[in-house]
Amino acid sequence: MGKFRIVGGAPLFGTVKVSGSKNGALPVIFATLATYGISKIINLPDIGDVRVALSLVEAYGAKVWREGDCTFIDTRELKWASPPESLITPLRASTYLLGATAVRFERAEIRCFGGCNFSPRPIDLHLMALESHGAEISGKDIRLPKLLPSTLDFPIRSVGATVNALILAAGCQGESIINGCASEPHIQTLIDYLRSAGCEIEFENDRARVRGGTLGGGEVRIPGDMIEAGSFLALSILTGGSLRVSGVNYRELNSFYEPLLLAGVRMAGEGSIELRGAPRSAIHVKTAPYPGFPTDLQPIIAPVMSISGGSIDETVWCGRFGYLRELARFNIASRLVGSRAEIFPSEIAPAIATAPDLRGGMALVIAALAADGESEIENAECVLRGYERLPQKLSLVGAEIKYCRD
Ligand code: EPU
Repeated sequence: MGKFRIVGGAPLFGTVKVSGSKNGALPVIFATLATYGISKIINLPDIGDVRVALSLVEAYGAKVWREGDCTFIDTRELKWASPPESLITPLRASTYLLGATAVRFERAEIRCFGGCNFSPRPIDLHLMALESHGAEISGKDIRLPKLLPSTLDFPIRSVGATVNALILAAGCQGESIINGCASEPHIQTLIDYLRSAGCEIEFENDRARVRGGTLGGGEVRIPGDMIEAGSFLALSILTGGSLRVSGVNYRELNSFYEPLLLAGVRMAGEGSIELRGAPRSAIHVKTAPYPGFPTDLQPIIAPVMSISGGSIDETVWCGRFGYLRELARFNIASRLVGSRAEIFPSEIAPAIATAPDLRGGMALVIAALAADGESEIENAECVLRGYERLPQKLSLVGAEIKYCRD
């Protein structure tokens, strides 16, 4: 286990470039298993979750190599495998093996899919996608001897189930329709990849029409990570600095700026994003699937609310508030009632705290960098699962942060 040692209190200034999106990269890595060829992925972030995902595709015999900014995955010769639990449980995206291996090997396995443990994380919609294509599910074993075209109506928006449904439809000969798709930017990245691998996809609002078949190698560029961008912007505001964030499509973050601008923060920047000034009134957010306020940014905006108060209504993961207990160590006061948290204006102080999950851990890093003095954040690996070279990037804009292994 490692920790971050942080000396906070200094405003951060300069330009910080975001890396490729974690949640854009993971579906593409797993989707390569459904293809027969060499895929080229540009701008893949070097983060913990991506490393585990690459080890998982290697467990099926994929060959992976990097050349500069490009990662190549050769999936021409694969064989069925049952990868060890130690590779399955660290990440939620291992659920994408369901769709990808069903296409490639006509079978899949229900495993202890992991990831951040902030809420129950059911897989009923993933199984619904498999069954709609003709899968037979018996205990943990899934067989799909004939992949049939399907029409699917998801009752709620699920990023993961949409990923599996798209991979299944792309690998299936004929036309499939998926209604009720999630439309997060990372879904578009997967669609771009699957199109380049040889299938046709029309995607409008929440409906996908997919004409699939045998897929070859594809090529895609992973766009900048909107959650990483939001994290740097939050840091900039809370430390009283001025960070320019580049490498991301600023429109994807509209729902993030809106409540901040309403509270008096100013926006600047061309080709990059900069938020200036502090909120002068309370910030209120309600999470929702894209284009709503991203649930992954609610732990990130919480420390910013310690300036002039605010509230969070969580509608995606009702239990995603474990980090508030840890923020309390930094003197950030809050009250939780059901799925609504209120954050009160507070004077942030340094603390020793433990990252409860990826985004909750980043909230602690943000609080520690704003607190005047020395803080420690245990379980730092959890944050490095999703943020590439975080201490190095932040050191370049004036932060004092070190990752230390115990
Ligand atoms: N849901 C079901 N049944 C299912 C699947 C989901 O009821 O079979 C429900 C969930 O309980 C939840 C809602 O649907 O209430 C949305 O879950 P979704 O499936 O969209 O989440 P996910 O695919 O498991 C991804 C991201 C999460 C992000 C959510 C929501 C990846 C690898 N993970 O998870 O990202 O919070 O979408 O946007 O893409 C993170 O990056 O820190 C992270 C947790």
